[in-house]
Amino acid sequence: MKAVVYTSESGFTKKCAEILSEKAGLPVYDLKTAISALAKGDEIIYLGWLMAGFIKGYKKAAKNFDVKAVCAVGMGTPGSQSTEKIKNQNHIGIVPVFYLQGGFDINKLHGLNKYMMSSMSKGVGKKLSEKPDKTVDEKDMLDLMLNGGDRVSEESISQVVSCLKGAKII
Ligand SMILES: Cc1cc2nc3c(=O)[nH]c(=O)nc-3n(C[C@H](O)[C@H](O)[C@H](O)COP(=O)(O)O)c2cc1C
Repeated sequence: MKAVVYTSESGFTKKCAEILSEKAGLPVYDLKTAISALAKGDEIIYLGWLMAGFIKGYKKAAKNFDVKAVCAVGMGTPGSQSTEKIKNQNHIGIVPVFYLQGGFDINKLHGLNKYMMSSMSKGVGKKLSEKPDKTVDEKDMLDLMLNGGDRVSEESISQVVSCLKGAKII
């Protein structure tokens, strides 16, 4: 395994990738740097943020490298996400796919992403805040939308590292 490679817009995936690289003892690069720093076909672990269910940069990463495991980083709670669905939507083969909760910070978004998330926060946020009996996942989503927040969990990343070690990927 050569490296941990990531794509991040507002910094949460970068943070996850840096923690993972430290725990796995591997160097970490953003995708653009990795393409010039590593050789084509090198083995990597790829982390990308979720945009409408798509893992940003995954296609490009898979074109350039031998992706041995994938982490999708989103704002939903782990309980609200299906890795099987993420795997299918992103046409990921037989490699393991993990979901990590990142966070949400509207001030770190720009352009269309900022516009889309501020209208989504208003729409979904209004709907959720009016819902009488919210689940734990819905409460967390509402809190993130209204107040923003960092949900990166070292413990979840340690679990990913243990799985990767167990599967002899690292
Ligand atoms: C346009 C847009 C679409 C998003 N779609 C999803 C999604 O489908 N599922 C999800 O869990 N999070 C979604 N998010 C939230 C991001 O994936 C989340 O904030 C993530 O932590 C961002 O990582 P980053 O800081 O590395 O960019 C979306 C964010 C934006 C801006």
